[in-house]
Amino acid sequence: PKEQFVAELMAKMTIDEKIAQTVQFTADGSITGPKSGDNFIEQIKKGNVGSILNATGVKYTNEIQKLNLDNSRLKIPLLFGYDVIHGYKTIFPITLGETASWDLEAAKLSAQIAAAEAAASGVHWTFAPMVDISRDGRWGRVSEGAGEDPFLGSKMAFARVKGFQGEDLMALNTILACTKHFAAYGAAEAGRDYNTTDMSERVLRDIYFPPFKATVDAGVRTFMASFNEIAGVPSTGSKFLMHDVLKGEWKFDGMVVTDYTGINEMIPHGFAKDEAHAGELAMNAGIDMDMVGGIYMKNLKKLLQEGRVTEAQINDACKRVLDVKYELGLFEDPYRYNNEKREKETIYKKEYLVAATDIANKSMVLLKNKGNVLPLKKDQKVAFVGPLVSDEFNIIGSWAASGDRYGFAVSVEEGVKKFLANSNKATFSKGVEIKDTKRDNIQQALNNAKDADVIVAVMGEFENMTGEAASQTDINLPGLQKEFLAELKKLNKPVVLVLMNGRPLTLEWENENMDAILEAWWPGTMGGDAVAQTLYGANNPSGKLPITFPRNVGQIPLYYNHKNTGRPYLGAADSEQKYKSRYTDVDNSPLFEFGYGLSYTTFAYSNLKLSSNTVNLKQKLTITVDLANTGNYDGSEVVQLYVHDLVGSVTRPVRELKGFKKVPLKKGEKQTVSFEISAEDLKFYDINMKETAEAGDFEIFIGGSSNAELKGKFELVK
Ligand code: IFM
Repeated sequence: PKEQFVAELMAKMTIDEKIAQTVQFTADGSITGPKSGDNFIEQIKKGNVGSILNATGVKYTNEIQKLNLDNSRLKIPLLFGYDVIHGYKTIFPITLGETASWDLEAAKLSAQIAAAEAAASGVHWTFAPMVDISRDGRWGRVSEGAGEDPFLGSKMAFARVKGFQGEDLMALNTILACTKHFAAYGAAEAGRDYNTTDMSERVLRDIYFPPFKATVDAGVRTFMASFNEIAGVPSTGSKFLMHDVLKGEWKFDGMVVTDYTGINEMIPHGFAKDEAHAGELAMNAGIDMDMVGGIYMKNLKKLLQEGRVTEAQINDACKRVLDVKYELGLFEDPYRYNNEKREKETIYKKEYLVAATDIANKSMVLLKNKGNVLPLKKDQKVAFVGPLVSDEFNIIGSWAASGDRYGFAVSVEEGVKKFLANSNKATFSKGVEIKDTKRDNIQQALNNAKDADVIVAVMGEFENMTGEAASQTDINLPGLQKEFLAELKKLNKPVVLVLMNGRPLTLEWENENMDAILEAWWPGTMGGDAVAQTLYGANNPSGKLPITFPRNVGQIPLYYNHKNTGRPYLGAADSEQKYKSRYTDVDNSPLFEFGYGLSYTTFAYSNLKLSSNTVNLKQKLTITVDLANTGNYDGSEVVQLYVHDLVGSVTRPVRELKGFKKVPLKKGEKQTVSFEISAEDLKFYDINMKETAEAGDFEIFIGGSSNAELKGKFELVK
């Protein structure tokens, strides 16, 4: 029926009406880019618009939809899109933080809840998941993605699409997902947003494409082009990306939207000579909808008349937009997402807040815990200090959609007070602001600290220091925070650093001088509860880093799945110290490697077994390992499986993640964990750019991080 319905509708549409379906304008909600200057109300009245960005809420979207339908000859409903990134009202940890849970069910659930709230609020379409692989913490947008690894990134991307879209887009608690930003935006040179990207097609396909492809496999219905150019071609004008790969090789039959004024930006890129040319390039590349730029609206008809684009192309773009509107049930009832009672009942449901606490708990990464200073004990006197200790604004993180920053989010102070039932064992004072240059308030906080058994410093970044247009060259703790920590250390008491931030920070000094470090990311609406529960041991941290934390910014890009080079440096024990691939001022190793994270308990790995030492292309290899909880707490461990393909027709990374399982174990418990891999998992783009698994020797590593030491070997035979 969809095919037939859309075909019959299109048979009645004029070319102007078809072009209108390819046009999106922004309403006056939260602005997510430079203002476009086009009056969306006027454009709707003229019947020029197919979709609206940044309009939310049942009442408001209802009004706009009505205005549109009153002016639409064929009563074609508008599609409302909005950035629902890590929650709509109930805000979950930022995507990078949530990825640290390595919990696919958690990622799916948060997307499900975000979709339910957004759909109840009149939103049809989110611009998420953001699946850009990035190896560069300077890039502010690392906070929105799943980190550096294609395997973990693909699994997370798949889960998130399933969460947003569910199995049925007609359901009133699901929305369209949009995979973004296609492609390689996370590789922007020097981590500067919107900057040039350049890489071999092999790296593009092996590293950057997999999460995008995973979302196509998950059935994602829309894609967004990236702002950057790749090898001289802006993505918005890339026939290779949109037409050949996405719609061709991957057979994606959904709709592709620009990122904001991506079409217009091909002019400053130096790829299009004027707006008409930019529109021509975008349509020829396979871009179906123009977000905000107004180029399709102003130019497509003329381009058609001049033979620079074809009617078939416009028809195809229009069809893809109408298809998704149909799939959402909008033709049946354009107001089906506009029910004020449902909106009220859905937003901030109790069970959503419980899930938000749980997922924030799962996202915590314990980076250091000297002398088991954590968990804290309820009868200890604790001085909570630092700029984020009472914060309820930043805690929900950047791009928190319509999340409420004041009056709803739970701060650390609130969470601790709740956890301790208001006992007088904890004090709260800031000491410094995030970017303070004056030391005015330090003394009060130091006095509190002097009086305590343990000091907990809650520090980090402002939420807007990560996200779009928030690149930085310095990724240390900002302002006077480190100086303040140094003063706290002089008090000779255990100091615990709780971090809230959206990127990997450089923490060498902190790691040397603090007793414990807990990475809490931006943990969301219920963040304060989760931090309190984790500090006091009601939650045992189980998160693992989804991105490498470098020692200093000069090491970037630094990532675990690097190549070996012809002169690999073997560390201090290397007999050759000079002519090796190394820095002379800092070790090659990261401060905290990908996959790293501690627990209050300890885990021991033993007994690695492979079902065979040789496998052929059709067999599966079973790998088992025994995992024991050898410490004093119940806990969960993310067991990680890495492979190393020793010799290839092109060089292969030193390690690649190929499997992981999050295993809960009671103290004293032991379990055999098993993985299966097959030739399919060992594929890469070979010397002839053919995706293939090459016969040869492989090493296997299993453990609790990308430095896993337990090792096995097998041979892949043809
Ligand atoms: O979805 C976003 C994108 O990630 C960055 N530019 C604006 C878009 C719409 O708000």
